[in-house]
Order: sequence, then C-alpha cells, then structure tokens
Amino acid sequence: MARAKEVEVKVKTSPVGSKDEILRAFGIELGGSVSGVARGGAFVEQPTGPKLATHDPSTGKVLASVATATAAECGAVSRSADEAFRRWRMVPAPRRGEIVRRLGDAFRERKQDLARLISLENGKIMSEALGEVQEVIDICDFAVGLSRQLYGNQMHSERPFHRLTEQWHPLGVVGIISAFNFPLAVPGWGWAIAVVCGDSIVWKPSSLTPLISIAAQKIFHEVTRSTEAEGIFNLVIGSGATTGEALLADPLVPLIQATGSCALGERVSTAVGKRGARAILELGGNNAVAVLDDADLDLALSAVVFGAVGTAGQRCTSTRRLILQRGIADAFVQRLARAYATVNIGDPLDGETLMGPLISADAVEAFLDGVATIKAQGGELLHGGEVLPDRGGYYVQPTIFKSRRDMPICAEEIFAPILHVFSVETLEQAIDLNNSVPQGLSSGLFTTNLHSAERWLSVAGSDCGIANVNAGTSGAEIGGAFGGEKATGGGRQAGSDAWKAYMRRQTCTINYGTELPLAQGVKFELHDA
Ligand code: UN1
Repeated sequence: MARAKEVEVKVKTSPVGSKDEILRAFGIELGGSVSGVARGGAFVEQPTGPKLATHDPSTGKVLASVATATAAECGAVSRSADEAFRRWRMVPAPRRGEIVRRLGDAFRERKQDLARLISLENGKIMSEALGEVQEVIDICDFAVGLSRQLYGNQMHSERPFHRLTEQWHPLGVVGIISAFNFPLAVPGWGWAIAVVCGDSIVWKPSSLTPLISIAAQKIFHEVTRSTEAEGIFNLVIGSGATTGEALLADPLVPLIQATGSCALGERVSTAVGKRGARAILELGGNNAVAVLDDADLDLALSAVVFGAVGTAGQRCTSTRRLILQRGIADAFVQRLARAYATVNIGDPLDGETLMGPLISADAVEAFLDGVATIKAQGGELLHGGEVLPDRGGYYVQPTIFKSRRDMPICAEEIFAPILHVFSVETLEQAIDLNNSVPQGLSSGLFTTNLHSAERWLSVAGSDCGIANVNAGTSGAEIGGAFGGEKATGGGRQAGSDAWKAYMRRQTCTINYGTELPLAQGVKFELHDA
C-alpha cells in the first residue's frame, strides 16, 4: 500500500515491454481488429455489430478495434451458453473445482502479461494491476476449496419418520456485466464462483476495456479446450443498448451480476424483476473515512491517500469523504495536502508512478463538471482541481475540497480523485455524516479507542456493507462477502457465502414412514377411502 508523504512512497518497478509487445502477448496487433464475441469455446470470426475502438488512456490513442455483437448474435451466444450449462451441471462439483484450479494456474502463469495489459488499457498503475490479477488467482483458490463445500442444511422434522433437508443446485447461465475499473477481478469474483456452482457464463464487459476481457477469454478457451467445461465461458462485447439490454431481457439468463452506476442498477433490476430473474448488484459508493482525535494519524494518512488517490479515484470503494474530528482536523488537512503534492502522476506502466490517467475524455469532463459544481455549491478548493493537458491522455490532479454536508453534490458519486473534507465534534456526528448519503458501500474509522471502534461496528454505527477499523475504504480481500447497502444495491459477491446467490436452493421433505402426518397438526382424514 502507498505510504504517503513523510512515510516514504515506493512501488516496485516492473519490467514492462512496448505497447506492441503487451498486445502481442495475447495475439492482438496494435491498431488491428479483433473479434469481441465468443461462444462454444471459440471466437466468432466476423461478428456483425458496429466496430468499437479501444484507447490507451495515457495517450488517448487507439489501441485496437473490436467487432461487437448484434442483439441476434447475443441470442445465439446465450443459447450456446445454456447448452453448455446443461452438460456442465452434471459434472461433479469437485471436478468443476479442478477446472477452476487450472484456470487459477493459468492466471498465475500469465500474471505479468495480464497486468501489463490492464495497466495499458485501463490506466491503473502496475502494482495495482498486478494486485488485480492476484485477486483473480485468490478467488480461484477460494472457489476450488468451495467446490467441496457447497453445503446444504439438515433440519429436524416436526413429523415422525420424516427428514427435512435443503440442497443447492446449479442455477443456469449467469450474465456478468462488468465495469472498466476492475475489468478482470470483479468479473472473476463472479465466474470463479459460478463455475464451481455448475453455472455457465455470458460476460458483457465494459466497452472501455474490451481487450482485457478478450485476453481472459483466450485463457478460458486454452484451459477448457476438449474438457467438460468447453463452451461454459462466453463473451459478448458491445454497447449497453444492444448487448446489455439483450442479456437483461433473455429468458435463458436467470441471474445477472452487474457492477456499475446506480442508474445501471435501476435498469438491471427493472428488466430482471419483470421476468422474475435475479440480480446481484454492486453499484455506486460514496465512501467515508472518519478520523478521531485519538487515531494513529500516520496510519490514517496513508489509508486516506491510497483510498482517495489510488486507482485515480476510480474504485467503487474509493474514499470520497473524509470526516475529521475537530482536534486534529486542521493539522491533518495540512499533512494531507503535502502528501498529495508528492504523488507521482504519470505513465501507469512506469513502476515509480502512483497515479495514472482517468479512463476517458468523458471521465475528465465529469471530473471538471464535479469541480465546478462543488465550487458553485460553496466548496473551498484545498488542492488540485485541474486537468493536466500537457501530458497528453486523460490526466487530472488529485483534488481536495473543504465541503459542507448540505451541499447536494456531496451525496453523489463522482468517479474521479476528488475528496470532500468535513469536520465534526463527536463520534456520533461522524457516524451520522457517514450514513447521511444514499450509497452504503464502504467505510473506515480511525481510532485507538475500543469503545469508539465497537460503536462504529455496532447496529447504531456505520450502515455500509463494509465497515473497517484502522483500515481504509478500498482494497478489500476476497475472503469476505463484498457489496453494499442502500443505493449500492444490496448484492454480495466474492467470498464467504456469496456463492449461494449463484445456485438455486431446494427444500426437500422425505417421508420414510407408513403414515402421512401433516405439518402443524392439521387433520385431513378421508373416511371412505
Ligand atoms: C470495485 O471498485 O468495483 O475492495 C471493486 C477493493 C477491490 C475491489 C473494488 N478489492 O477496492
């Protein structure tokens, strides 16, 4: 993790090749054209949807062009995924785990290549890109163990000679709609778990990071070729309006895992709700760190800088609000601004860089709109606020504002490195401010006081899906269930028992007696039978 300012900032330098080499490692030519549709264990040669250009965010230049899917092609993909599901569900779960073990091994082997591609197409720094691939490896390991632990319950029946039990069956085709900011890890949380659960996949990645999903799809093909798993991984790259909507409306897809904005969540839950299917939603966050007077301020400073500046503020878990108790507020803000001034902004492939570019010109526009709105609503600029056009690409400055909680913009997620700072008198006020926004993803309290820490984690504390003590808002491990409350959508992915959402539960009553006693003591006797 980045240690800010006085704490020395160091990221391991990684040997990286030219952009040409990075793409060629996955058979993609710089400026060339590739298929963005795969089914049945192979890419569709000439998908007929519109061509999609993908860009290097550090220069704004085109990397390659991707042939996308039409709605009709999406239908063919999900039919193929459904056929694969019908075979795959019959494969014993531990054997399904064995395939995921091999996938994890393949991602281990290609870790460096994949990280370089993530850094190139997404713009996150190499250390974070390597971490993202590691997250996939970790969830594969977790899923392998899980493949022998898909436990059902056994209850004591209230009736004599009866057995009551719950079991879990594979669900079907899982549609994974993923975002640009975690183009490999978050879809990985879905597919690694879904595949050991016996499901098949149709993946619709973000149009901003198609090459990363194409590289992953190639690995899926290599590992599953001529196994029972051939055809369980399917890909539809294309616009939300075409491929996304086709997936949402498809009766062959009983579950959609979607990561993105709150607006996307509304579209998904409406479409999926209409046809009685399910969704796992991971939507916007507006995450706060609260620092009390008794906190270890070095820890807090590092956590806030990593949370707010890391990934250029483009994690759903990024720290967007900083709540400072009055006694330390002024001094902490001064240290923070000094730390921000030391952040190395530049080429994400350079091992010394701490902050890369934003993903696109639209993202820079949203950053500038955000800055203007915050100023208009009375926010006081403490650091940054500018774009860095002289660098080419989509670079901006990490930005700090002193804001007031009644500014409407503070309730919104701006997907950029903008941090609002507030001060409060008490822990109760900090909790109230933390909980005052519509979103409820992640939160962190810095304190050395046990009472305050437990109060933060209590039922009357943080209302978020993730609540930390002396740890920042971003950078969760895969072992816990990941997701948030309120406008964040309520879904849970990754570890713990998140797998249950990828299966269907069945409650079974077995009568091994010779009578038919009814539950709740109901009598229903046929006299003349
Ligand atoms: C996201 O930004 O959608 O906890 C996921 C984290 C990462 C995952 C972020 N492990 O910050």
